[in-house]
Amino acid sequence: MLTAETISPASLDLTWVRSQFPSLAQTVDGQPAVFFDGPGGTQVPQRVIDAISDYLARHNANSGGAFATSRETDRVLAEARGAMADFLNCDADEIVFGPNMTSLTFAISRALGRELGAGDEIVLTLLDHDANFAPWKALEERGATIRAAKFHPADCTLDMDDLARQITSRTRLVAVGYASNAVGSINDVAKVVRLARQAGALSYIDAVHYAPHGLIDVRALGCDFLVCSTYKFFGPHMGVLYGKREHLKRLQPYKVRPSSNKVPHRWEWGTMNHECLAGITACVEYWGELGRRAMELGAAIPQGLKPQPAGGFFGTAKAAPLQNTRRGAIVAAHAAIHRHERELTERMIAGLLEIPRLKLYGISDRRRFDQRTGTMAVRIDGHTPLELATKLGQRGFFTWDGNYYALNVTEQLDVERSGGFLRIGLVHYNTLEEVERFLAALREIADALP
Ligand SMILES: Cc1ncc(COP(=O)(O)O)c(C=O)c1O
Repeated sequence: MLTAETISPASLDLTWVRSQFPSLAQTVDGQPAVFFDGPGGTQVPQRVIDAISDYLARHNANSGGAFATSRETDRVLAEARGAMADFLNCDADEIVFGPNMTSLTFAISRALGRELGAGDEIVLTLLDHDANFAPWKALEERGATIRAAKFHPADCTLDMDDLARQITSRTRLVAVGYASNAVGSINDVAKVVRLARQAGALSYIDAVHYAPHGLIDVRALGCDFLVCSTYKFFGPHMGVLYGKREHLKRLQPYKVRPSSNKVPHRWEWGTMNHECLAGITACVEYWGELGRRAMELGAAIPQGLKPQPAGGFFGTAKAAPLQNTRRGAIVAAHAAIHRHERELTERMIAGLLEIPRLKLYGISDRRRFDQRTGTMAVRIDGHTPLELATKLGQRGFFTWDGNYYALNVTEQLDVERSGGFLRIGLVHYNTLEEVERFLAALREIADALP
């Protein structure tokens, strides 16, 4: 069985991983650049860059034409759909591409709005990015009532009791994030999907922040929709929507008349970003190679990838001889990066908590780290987050400051008017050595305060 326990810590070949990402070699004033800005967007492996330029150099055309480059473009599109279907575990015609998650969510909300009226309710959460809030709140114009579940301020985890209370027989949709891009909390989305289904409501999962950290299995989750953005998991700047086929067929998109009315094309308007679609396939291939290497290197090679603990980082994989498939390799990749990210997170949080006047927002108890990603929100008394990010940036550490569009979170925690948080985001290409150097730099900056 493939779990974090049966995969050797050596299974992530970090030297190989880092060699794949040319941008990691950059420097800032002679100091190595440290990319802790992953929740805002990750770096890309060379193969993604190559795939994008190869498309533009050799296959560049519009789709649907009766000539070579156009047919090749159709193939590029089909391959990208197949790749994302493996990444999310669904069928290729349930994958919709768009410029980003926000645009895709507005597209679905507008379509759903056509069916809504007075008395219909939508349940959201105050822990979510505004891209999974504002598009639904806009449906108040259609007479829908918006309800928002709270989160616990002490550890920034979703108040599941409050969420359950908000869902009633009038609920038409429950929109919840898989993980918070602000504070890193992972929500029990399997339970949210169940609650929504029991009430006869649709579920819409924002997996943008979760995708680089944990395996997504839309079949096992049973969600109606799930959205993610490839630029958060080592691909190009694009968004991806999974929708159950029945919903993609039934809901009526706003579209131009000549474009196909078939699923999933009816949700993809205008000319797509073909070069980035080529990059998406290469990105998923990167995940696949990472997983195959992890299986080769791991002490315990999975005998068949079996269901993982519910709600854990690995979701649930189909119990089938998956090891030779791309999906199987993606499952293995997640197992390998999980252990590495966990090690980095433990060290980072332990070190952060030793810094005087620093406050960490979110889960800090290491026994509960399975409920968080390695995304940390902090403040240090006497310094605004922007000042901290600027001083860190001058030393080559790339972090974010502000609300990162998780506006309800910063408002609820009363930090919006004072600059939000400093966000430190770890992904699998980061190293323990980077964490140590970062902690030393942040300590120095904190100590230099009046
Ligand atoms: C959790 C979460 N949801 C949604 C978004 C919006 O994604 P996009 O930029 O693809 O619209 C982001 C972007 O940071 C995010 O972190």
